Amino acid sequence: MTVELVEVRARISTDVVGRDRELDLALAAVSAGRDLLLEGPPGTSKTTLLSAITAQWHIPLVFVEGNADLTPARLVGHHNPSRVLREDYSVDNFVDGPLLDAMRSGGFLYIEELNRAPEDSLNTLLTAMAERRITIPRVGTVHALPTFRVVASMNPFDNIGTSRLSTSILDRLCRIAIGYQDAEAERRIVALRTAERTANLDPQLAERMRHDAVALTRRTRESEDIRQGSSVRGAIDLMLVASELVTMRAISGDDDRYAETFYDALTLALSGRIVLEQTLDTTPEAVLRVLWEDHFLLDPARAAPG
Ligand SMILES: Nc1ncnc2c1ncn2[C@@H]1O[C@H](COP(=O)(O)OP(=O)(O)OP(=O)(O)O)[C@@H](O)[C@H]1O
Ligand SMILES: [Mg+2]
Repeated sequence: MTVELVEVRARISTDVVGRDRELDLALAAVSAGRDLLLEGPPGTSKTTLLSAITAQWHIPLVFVEGNADLTPARLVGHHNPSRVLREDYSVDNFVDGPLLDAMRSGGFLYIEELNRAPEDSLNTLLTAMAERRITIPRVGTVHALPTFRVVASMNPFDNIGTSRLSTSILDRLCRIAIGYQDAEAERRIVALRTAERTANLDPQLAERMRHDAVALTRRTRESEDIRQGSSVRGAIDLMLVASELVTMRAISGDDDRYAETFYDALTLALSGRIVLEQTLDTTPEAVLRVLWEDHFLLDPARAAPG
């Protein structure tokens, strides 16, 4: 690592809670001039890491979602049709797509759910990755600036998995597998992301609520009834809505209504984001009720902060 890279590394870590190893690996890959695949469930810091890196390097982060709509023309760009009618095809009436945008500006092209992009777009991307330039009819050849990188993400639970990607793409990508962070880190993330909106709460009550929000969210990932549990995003929302509810209902930490209010917040924040096992004949509310009972009634020691 150069001195500059070490400094950048240190500055980035102030924007990101934990993730030291992932940050090292991501920086090593992009500093080495490599393209990168981040594989992890939703809400596991993929965008956070990339935004922090590109912000510190002062280069653009160009987002594009990999889905059936991402045709090669949308990825690369297209000639403005009404101008083509008036002026015929020219360099001037070409509208850059995200790939060209990232190549010209030396940014990171961040393709979320790469495995969902259509085959022909993946082939276009492959050419850009291999040659670092792209030739477009009636526009010419565009060379990528040296900092241009392709960073792709994928959810390992996605039923259209890596096998969807050709080995020629996979053979050009470094890969980092990202999982959930530990409870301590998740509580810090919740604190960071909710500080402003929960500033009115009693600090002790707020700490207890962060603890409960993270613990309950983590239970959704362990439950046998749930195929995909909630990410830390759920814990952030749970903290935010619980905070509104306790304020609305004027509830304090030792109030009997606290736990029941937390159940209301739990269904509000998490019932729409958990994916139940398909064979189950039940509702998200019922599954959450069981997790809530385990947390507040059967295991009250774990429910207390500390
Ligand atoms: N390590 C972290 N430090 C600070 N905030 C984090 C961290 N991880 C996640 N967050 C917060 O959690 C939320 C989700 O994180 P992020 O957007 O980075 O996830 P992601 O992996 O890109 O998810 P997706 O696959 O759904 O796009 C954001 O609000 C982000 O601020
Ligand atoms: Mg993201």
